[in-house]
Amino acid sequence: MIIAIDGPAASGKGTLARRLAAHYALPHLDTGLLYRAVAARCLALGRLDDAPASEEAARHLDLSTLDPEALRTAALGEAASVVAARQGVRAALLDLQHRFAAQPGGAVLDGRDIGTVICPRAEAKLFVTATPEVRAERRYRELASRGEPITYDAVLADIRKRDERDSARATAPLVMAEDAALLDTSQLDIPAAFAAALAIVEARRHGR
Ligand code: DC
Repeated sequence: MIIAIDGPAASGKGTLARRLAAHYALPHLDTGLLYRAVAARCLALGRLDDAPASEEAARHLDLSTLDPEALRTAALGEAASVVAARQGVRAALLDLQHRFAAQPGGAVLDGRDIGTVICPRAEAKLFVTATPEVRAERRYRELASRGEPITYDAVLADIRKRDERDSARATAPLVMAEDAALLDTSQLDIPAAFAAALAIVEARRHGR
């Protein structure tokens, strides 16, 4: 079974993806990390604006060397959104994602274009969302707890800017797949959101 989870930044999709993967004992890929890793490489080279350099970085990405902790910073989220708008970068990351999804037994993938582009035939598709204010509050707490010097207003501004860039880009924009189930987590805590997500996946699994 393939579970495809998409949605904007800090909607709760990562947490739900991890929990669903644990529940069904499936491997999980947070595809945002791929774009973050490409962005980190470009920033290290001082070449974020160089499209061919970012495509080269994407082609040489090695899943086994990704360090999620180091990649989940506000600056890399912003830079990832920039490189992710490049068609060549997205094309270079397709194969790796398809191979991950093709594992025997299935997989859980989360990102922006999983249900629309990467795994259009996934058995279960969720589009997870929440208001920008709720998402900013969550992301602010997460970053502050890790000691990042950041304000709520800066996080909210960043979230709005990223939503706009991820939704407006020409290649694989952030849109809900026609056959995805919408899950708004604005009013839900994690256990309630997980229960709702599980109910959706179970219904899809049983063809409802
Ligand atoms: O989910 P995240 O915050 O780690 O993602 C960082 C950026 O990467 C996001 O702003 C857009 C991009 N991204 C994408 O374009 N497609 C994906 N499948 C996942 C992430």
